Amino acid sequence: MSGEVYRVLPAAKKRAKIDDEKYLKWYKQSVKDPEKFWGKHGKRIDWFKPYTKVKNTSFEGDVSIKWFEDGVTNVAYNCIDRHLKKRGDQVAIIWEGDNPYDDKKITYNELYDQVCRLANVMKKNGVKKGDRVTIYMPMIPEAAYAMLACARIGAVHSIVFGGFSPEALAGRIVGCESTFLITADEGLRGGKTIPLKANADKAIEIASKGGVDVKSTLVVRRTAAKVDWNEERDIWYHDAVAAARGECAPAKMKAEDPLFILYTSGSTGQPKGVLHTTGGYLVYASMTHEYVFDYHDGDIYWCTADVGWVTGHSYIIYGPLANGATTLMFEGVPNYPSPSRFWDVCDKHNVNIFYTAPTAIRALMGAGDDHVKKASLKSLRTLGSVGEPINPEAWEWYYNTVGNKKSPIVDTWWQTETGGILITPLPGATDLKPGSATRPFFGVQPQLVDNEGEVLEGAVEGNLCIVNSWPGQMRTVYGDHERFIQTYFSTYKGKYFTGDGCRRDEDGYYWITGRVDDVINVSGHRMGTAEVESALVAHGKVSEAAVVGYPHDVKGQGIYCYVTLMEGEEGDDALRKELVAHVRSDIGPIASPDKIQFAPGLPKTRSGKIMRRILRKIAEDDFGSLGDTSTLADPAVVDDLIENRQNKK
Ligand code: WTA
Repeated sequence: MSGEVYRVLPAAKKRAKIDDEKYLKWYKQSVKDPEKFWGKHGKRIDWFKPYTKVKNTSFEGDVSIKWFEDGVTNVAYNCIDRHLKKRGDQVAIIWEGDNPYDDKKITYNELYDQVCRLANVMKKNGVKKGDRVTIYMPMIPEAAYAMLACARIGAVHSIVFGGFSPEALAGRIVGCESTFLITADEGLRGGKTIPLKANADKAIEIASKGGVDVKSTLVVRRTAAKVDWNEERDIWYHDAVAAARGECAPAKMKAEDPLFILYTSGSTGQPKGVLHTTGGYLVYASMTHEYVFDYHDGDIYWCTADVGWVTGHSYIIYGPLANGATTLMFEGVPNYPSPSRFWDVCDKHNVNIFYTAPTAIRALMGAGDDHVKKASLKSLRTLGSVGEPINPEAWEWYYNTVGNKKSPIVDTWWQTETGGILITPLPGATDLKPGSATRPFFGVQPQLVDNEGEVLEGAVEGNLCIVNSWPGQMRTVYGDHERFIQTYFSTYKGKYFTGDGCRRDEDGYYWITGRVDDVINVSGHRMGTAEVESALVAHGKVSEAAVVGYPHDVKGQGIYCYVTLMEGEEGDDALRKELVAHVRSDIGPIASPDKIQFAPGLPKTRSGKIMRRILRKIAEDDFGSLGDTSTLADPAVVDDLIENRQNKK
């Protein structure tokens, strides 16, 4: 592990809102008296009716999490209306298209108009407070309008990443019984089109077999491709919005009214609907956005995520807009038309704060320094990283070559479930160590425990738990509170268990080591190995499958599949291709297996449990340390697995 320490840069400290002294003081207050601390900071958003209760949370028993519960507010009002007087003509969203010649600027006044119109269209088509609206869209401004229009009328959005298949989309539509869908004719990424409307049509058909009928589909024209049209169900977005009124009063929302559902992968079963609510979420997203990135009025801020993931929710839309920022929304990919795209966009729009994922950093590092060096990048001031552990080599390259040694890197650890960043450096306060997410944000109390739940003190490695609530925390699994309790609060009683392993060093810095459960992290995208397994066994020739992650130079982790075929089937490259195509169509391209090993048998205990530890080791080509295999029902299968491994060094 790199021992290098990068001291706080004097310039960063000088301009920062929080220096080390203030961090330590605020942090102490925030854990000593959360009521008082959050009672004060809750006021950073506007409330129609102020709260009198701040915190009412319990990680025990039925687990109940409520923040600011008697306050009344509206998220869209906070992200738009309250800024109009001061910054109506300021750019709210810079949109950079897939094609470098395609861009657009949307002011807060324009955002207000667009969101109100869309909100009225949704109301006219029967969407009411509490209804679930599915959004399946490319990275275009209409995606932001759709989120904010839902928030404005109190509808609950569920965004499904545009890279997911019709089957995956259908599952999420049925999961939250959503009968209103917003999509586009096609998406455009890296010069390639994605048939969103056609996928949506298929998904609607599948969902209807699952008992949920989508009543209306609002379709944005993005590429003007010809699409099938169902007169009864489909509505052209632009026609409807043009005819709607540009005023729509924001709904009065209680702090604990739902804001959105976002499906995410876990270690078992199908993805679960993480539910976030209104008041606490917005307070936390906006506060972390301001302090973690040391955001100042007038800064140009760019987070490269997709709105289909939580990072896009909290740090492209809600956090920045609540702070009145100019947020950049990018439709494309890092290497199109060339690997200098990110840096060209930074120069073109004078980006000050840049937030991306280690997988992109590694890929661009691999493309060579010339792509970076020809850009000026002089506007950059703060760099961020999110989604997976960043290896020290990538960190150093980001710091030296992209940041030119003058921009601190904030390595932000958090999860879909946490709503916002929990462990992170602050640019003007925290000395940096490459690869460490460093210290907890205000109000966050991490704890490391061993497998038996014993609390570990000092410099040590263990399982990462959080022992007290913070306002951005998820409130439940949509429609299944029991699963919420089981998944997060039953492993270690009374604590929120993150599923991550973590080391704490002698300075109290946290180093996330990765998932300790059956979740893998592929290019910063969370994937449940159980989901890939269930897609594989749904194929007629597959009898059994086990999926594990293995280290991958660019993606962080790759997907390694062990597949046992039905009696009489032959495993060859043609079948490998067929299985890859099958998983892609079942879940989406992000779940494409990287390696498939055909195995006559899988290592199992005598009670029939697959020994994943062994499969992981073989996938890592580390079979020298397989550990004890004597408890296996048939130890001989291991020899075959090693012999035919697909990852030979
Ligand atoms: C991992 C993304 C190390 C972690 C915001 C977590 C990280 C999972 C970091 C959540 C980081 C996220 N360092 N690991 N800075 N950020 N992770 O829900 O394993 O898509 O549990 O949320 O990503 O992924 P999710």
